[in-house]
Amino acid sequence: MNHTPVEGFSKLSKEGKIEWLVNEYLNGSEKSIQTLKQYWNDDADLQRLHDEFSENTLSNFYMPFGFAPNFLIDGELQCLPMAIEESSVVAAASKAAKFWINRGGFKTKILSKVKLGHVHFMFGGDKEKLDRFFLETVLAKLFIDTEPITKNMQARGGGILNLKLVDKTEDIPDYYQIHAEFDTVDSMGANFINSCLEQFAQTLKREVYESDVFTSEEKDSLQIVMCILTNYTPDCLVRAEVSCPVEDLAEGNVSSEMFVEKFTRAVRIAEVEPYRATTHNKGIMNGIDAVVIATGNDFRAVEACAHTYASKDGKYSSLTHCEVKDGVFRFWLDLPISLGTVGGLTSLHPLVKLALEVLGNPNAEKLMGIVAVGGLAQNFAALRSLVTTGIQQGHMKMHLLNILNQLEATEEEKEYFVNYFKDKTVSHHGVISEFCNLRGVKSVEELKK
Ligand code: MEV
Repeated sequence: MNHTPVEGFSKLSKEGKIEWLVNEYLNGSEKSIQTLKQYWNDDADLQRLHDEFSENTLSNFYMPFGFAPNFLIDGELQCLPMAIEESSVVAAASKAAKFWINRGGFKTKILSKVKLGHVHFMFGGDKEKLDRFFLETVLAKLFIDTEPITKNMQARGGGILNLKLVDKTEDIPDYYQIHAEFDTVDSMGANFINSCLEQFAQTLKREVYESDVFTSEEKDSLQIVMCILTNYTPDCLVRAEVSCPVEDLAEGNVSSEMFVEKFTRAVRIAEVEPYRATTHNKGIMNGIDAVVIATGNDFRAVEACAHTYASKDGKYSSLTHCEVKDGVFRFWLDLPISLGTVGGLTSLHPLVKLALEVLGNPNAEKLMGIVAVGGLAQNFAALRSLVTTGIQQGHMKMHLLNILNQLEATEEEKEYFVNYFKDKTVSHHGVISEFCNLRGVKSVEELKK
């Protein structure tokens, strides 16, 4: 089907946008209009708030908002807010939390907290001259010119930590950077960093143009390419870990030694094998993203950073590691992550505010630890299942309701199936076949008639 481009879509009213969308892409279906509108909030102010988070908002997209209790983190009992659609994630987190609550709980540690940004620029002149000029003339002015931007941040204990000129001409001819390090305290700091960077670029340009150090060709060769923070923050790093004596790790009919051997082997495989590392880390991100979204942070930034870090040694690898030393099993996650507990959605979205309140309104450092624990717990739960019962037993149990909802099962039928599969492994085929039995039909197609 051919569609016609639309002019000024963002300027249409919400009703106008829906009308256009439904006529152009949904055959004018009244049902589609109803589907979009049934997720509107009755509270007009609340709806407006959500509409204004983003452009061209036509409805709200629900995501399950669950809680995983019993997380003992640095001696404090926490209940983790998790926004995630995957059926087994909150259950797995809760299971891991319960497992570790009697084994010392989770410990966290901030290893460093530096955020980064760059002015990427081209300069075709003398390198040594630029180097000297940057150190002797530009550097101090970069700090002075950004004072109006950094004043408030400094009052909160943050600001610009360090600035340096980086020669990248071996990668791309004439390419340089101002590499800038920041402490943004409890904010993620994207706007702060980008504003500083844009000022750095102006200052650099002004100083070069006004100086009598460079020739006019050198001056003309200076071109600012872009000013932007990097989401790769390897020095904004938190460690979450668990440890306990090996003998505390017996698992059903698997001895503690056997469990540790299998578990350790699974982590080693993820350390050396990118195919496995990707899925291993995906499981970690299940826990991380869920808490990051629930607390109003930018999960795309968190994902991008984590995966770059996982490749830092030249090969994509596991984000978690484990060891056994002197009879003690230790399992940990080093996670670079830039989070905010002020600014952004944190004070706007009512559910985010609630989530942060449940966590005791943590500062950014504490939230970094909590989020890392979410990832470590998830990975522990996944590996524990994978090396013992297999993942499908628990996973499919949680998926059962999705299959039954697809089949449009009644509440009584759902209850029947939960009981039916109590001591059996759930499979898609098994559910369909028993469902047909129950309804007295031969196939799902017959149900639809
Ligand atoms: C599923 O979302 C995540 C797992 O595949 C993670 C893993 O394999 O470690 C279970």
